[in-house]
Amino acid sequence: MNQKPSSRISGFYNWPLPERLDWLARWADLTDEEIAVLHNGGISVDQADRMIENVVGRYALPLGIALNFQVNGRDVLVPMAIEEPSVVAGASFAARLAREGGGFRAEASAPEMIGQIQVLDVPDIPAAAAALVTERDRILARADEVDPVIRQLGGGARDLIVRVLPETPVGPMLVVHLVYDVRDAMGANAVNTACEALAPLIEEITGGRVGLRILSNLADRRLARAECRIPASALAFNDFPSERVAQGIVEAWAFAAADPYRAATHNKGILNGIDAVAIATGQDWRAIEAGAHAYAARSGRYTSLSTWELDAEGNLVGRLELPLAVGTVGGATRAHPAARVALKILGMQAARELAEVMVAVGLAQNLAALRALATEGIQKGHMALHARQVAIAAGAVGDEIEEVARRMVAEGIIRPDRAESILRSLRNHQGKT
Ligand code: MEV
Repeated sequence: MNQKPSSRISGFYNWPLPERLDWLARWADLTDEEIAVLHNGGISVDQADRMIENVVGRYALPLGIALNFQVNGRDVLVPMAIEEPSVVAGASFAARLAREGGGFRAEASAPEMIGQIQVLDVPDIPAAAAALVTERDRILARADEVDPVIRQLGGGARDLIVRVLPETPVGPMLVVHLVYDVRDAMGANAVNTACEALAPLIEEITGGRVGLRILSNLADRRLARAECRIPASALAFNDFPSERVAQGIVEAWAFAAADPYRAATHNKGILNGIDAVAIATGQDWRAIEAGAHAYAARSGRYTSLSTWELDAEGNLVGRLELPLAVGTVGGATRAHPAARVALKILGMQAARELAEVMVAVGLAQNLAALRALATEGIQKGHMALHARQVAIAAGAVGDEIEEVARRMVAEGIIRPDRAESILRSLRNHQGKT
């Protein structure tokens, strides 16, 4: 792994786009072709036509870079594809706060996915369940024959778990879980293929009829965890003393911990960050969403995916844990040129490292949202950011951007025509002085 320069940059949003690209190209050793990919969105209509059905075009999203991230002591730039303003700025801001406490510590468990095989019409469920346990090794060996490449890479079938669903709307059924280490893949294809291949053997052993053979998106054996510790002093801003900000964040988390209505929004904020990296790197973000929300409800009551507390010194400590089924090989990660460039910017080959960065981004996003919500509210920052974009679109450059944006926010009128007129008056005034 190359030692990268710092990801700590201030005022990046004020740089003209070509300068941002130049800097990024140097930071991540991007070639001219790779820069071109960022410009043109990555895929041609022909490539799109080979990816899905009934193609009539392509659909682009903005790609931003979240700055300031340090994950396990390593500086990273985080590509995020998202249409919502404030997300990239929020992640970068929170990463700067976390950096003051040493950045994020993150870890991901082994890449074990679960495949489900549904068995119906089983004549004797307890006997069938016992027979499956007895035949465990034979079943796992059969599953291992399916993908020799994954085997060679050190992955493959790891375990077999037999579950009985005694009461379903169609009566009792057996469910066989195949636990399968998919290495650096997201793993849906490998697991689905293995489950389909096992079906005849499962029928033979149980005397039942196999129904579904499919991956579970509740990937609770493939968890990613992140933690950060923000020094209390780093949290103060404007009229908000640090203790009030820290306490406000803990109270905001407590609300989500206790109330599913709030938890849904709280977790949505976490996924704002995770999804944006998932999309940029070509992941199946629907799978991540499904896994995250199911995991949030694992106790039987939907709750917050993160926790926030104060330590003995008054520092704010945040933790996030969720399933992250992400891959760096296969699927769109390799087929989509922009996803390849995003992975290169992140500088990572291993799915595990990608999951570690993504869980850190989720925690950062959560911190940014809670800090804003517990203090000045999110609209103020949102409006300031929006005003800056309107100012830039009106032609403001350098210091003019902040000044035009500031005046628009103060007036409560954020419109291109108002930005142009403020800009004209600023320049006239400067001409006179
Ligand atoms: C908006 O996209 C996300 C937030 O609603 C998250 C939250 O409320 O924690 C700000």
